[in-house]
Amino acid sequence: AEEREAYKAKIKALLVRENAVLVAHYYTSAILQELAEETGGCVSDSLEMARFGNQHPASTLVVAGVKFMGETAKILNPEKRVLMPTLEATCSLDIGCNAEEFSAFCDQHSDRTVVVYANTSAAVKARADWVVTSSIALDVVEHLDKQGEKVLWAPDKYLGGYVKKTTGADVLLWDGSCIVHEEFKAKGILDLKHLYPDAAVLVHPESPESVVDIADVVGSTSQLIQAAEKMDNKEFIVATDSGIFYKMQQLAPNKTFIEAPTAGTGATCRSCAHCPWMAMNGLENLAEVLETGDQEVFVDDALREKALIPLRRMLDFSA
Ligand code: 13P
Ligand code: SF4
Repeated sequence: AEEREAYKAKIKALLVRENAVLVAHYYTSAILQELAEETGGCVSDSLEMARFGNQHPASTLVVAGVKFMGETAKILNPEKRVLMPTLEATCSLDIGCNAEEFSAFCDQHSDRTVVVYANTSAAVKARADWVVTSSIALDVVEHLDKQGEKVLWAPDKYLGGYVKKTTGADVLLWDGSCIVHEEFKAKGILDLKHLYPDAAVLVHPESPESVVDIADVVGSTSQLIQAAEKMDNKEFIVATDSGIFYKMQQLAPNKTFIEAPTAGTGATCRSCAHCPWMAMNGLENLAEVLETGDQEVFVDDALREKALIPLRRMLDFSA
């Protein structure tokens, strides 16, 4: 505990020295979320992270999350230095959507409007008409559908399938998935519901269709946290990364939050739903990058200019 406090103090001083602000995702560790809150940074979902970094005057953004979040920050803020605790933190959706293969897929379906999830590389975004996050995916596709546009969606097939089913739009899906959310099992959640019959089920839309189907609320991390705070239920079964419990407990200390099981048995499993890449963000590597300026995010200029267009569209749409 003493060591943690020493690290926290060191990081706070370095943030000031470097004119830097910490932008953290809800899936990072409680201690990083605490630090972001205590130092005037932000803890949020991926859309709000992008907006916060874009509006904040600091000359250095330290993005605690995964690679696409750092790249998005750099694309939107080329004049700022963007650091991450580690550039190794990626995402299975990003890995599962190779830019060349994706571009060929788009070429084969050139009559479709290309909508990509934020969890993609800068090169994939550069090929897109729209970038969306889970918090606005439904609204954007509904808007496109109203204009009579057909959609090519990548990479998450579960989120894409949910959007397709809910909006009724003509959506062609890329075959990608999140290794964390795809493990949630409807059977396990239903078994838990027998133990907690009054619990509300909160589900991130990267989860399989059978899990989304039994949800009381489906939404981005911010939207799930809001539901946890506002709903009258005293108990919640939560199907998303366990990092989210920090904020839920903070905002609703008298409510009980239960991890949705990732096996079909109904047995709960402490922290098995935790993104291995989010977990790579720690106090030690955060202090180190602030000290050394190592792990800086760069995005090729030509790609950056192209990727900026659909990213700006995303921010303008949701403004
Ligand atoms: P949010 O945009 O809901 O924060 O989701 C990001 C993410 O990576 C979910 O796995
Ligand atoms: Fe990617 Fe899933 Fe990790 Fe989110 S939780 S960053 S979608 S691998």
